Amino acid sequence: MRTFSPSFRVWHWLQAIAVFGLFITVILRESVMSKGAIGSIVQTKLAEIGMIITDEQAVIIGKAVRAPMWEWHIYLGIAVAALLLWRLVMVLKNGFGFDENPSMKRVYRLYKAVYLFLAVMSISGLSLYYKIAGDSKELVESIHMYVGYAIFAFVAVHIIGVILAERSDQKGLVSRMISGR
Ligand code: HEM
Ligand code: HEM
Repeated sequence: MRTFSPSFRVWHWLQAIAVFGLFITVILRESVMSKGAIGSIVQTKLAEIGMIITDEQAVIIGKAVRAPMWEWHIYLGIAVAALLLWRLVMVLKNGFGFDENPSMKRVYRLYKAVYLFLAVMSISGLSLYYKIAGDSKELVESIHMYVGYAIFAFVAVHIIGVILAERSDQKGLVSRMISGR
């Protein structure tokens, strides 16, 4: 059976918190805190007190209100990039720590793909934030968005997979991921 070292467990749960947090920031950005949604509330309320602003002005205010929320995407994104480097050090020192269980082969391949995706997210995200993507900005944005959605899809599949594994032949899997035993 696979054993989970203390540093691996700490890494996993910090990583999980960061990715859940990123998910929340993206959901907020696309729903109640979208620049358009905030802008139209501001526009309507200002109109009620007799101040007319254009749609463009409303969007500028919307963006400004959204900005402090979106800063969390950057903090959590930087955390993901740092955690990935930490995991890289662990893997270089001790390998992935996967066992020889043949039924887990596909799952382990998926995990490796997720690490690759996390690397793509870190590099694309940082280059958008520091504006070093240049002419390929739009391409980098699309890659960042679609691979980001793929990671969120992985998390959903991952949690279902862990629940199914707990209920079948890997009872105590989550406990071992928490306490090591
Ligand atoms: C409540 C949520 C979660 C639970 C209960 C959970 C549980 C687990 C467990 C039990 C394992 C070990 C499984 C095995 O040996 O195959 C694992 C591995 C892993 N989890 Fe999660 N996880 C959660 C959320 C997340 C999130 C949000 C991410 C973010 C990307 C994530 C990424 C990973 C990765 C990459 C591995 C494989 C690590 C490796 O073996 O190198 N998990 N998780
Ligand atoms: C697991 C890691 C990450 C995930 C899942 C993720 C997810 C996403 C998603 C889905 C979007 C598109 C949001 C939208 O258009 O509504 C986005 C945008 C963005 N992300 Fe990330 N992200 C991650 C890491 C990072 C990192 C490391 C940074 C940089 C520090 C970063 C910076 C940005 C920026 C600047 C945008 C805005 C791009 C634009 O204006 O279109 N992200 N992210």
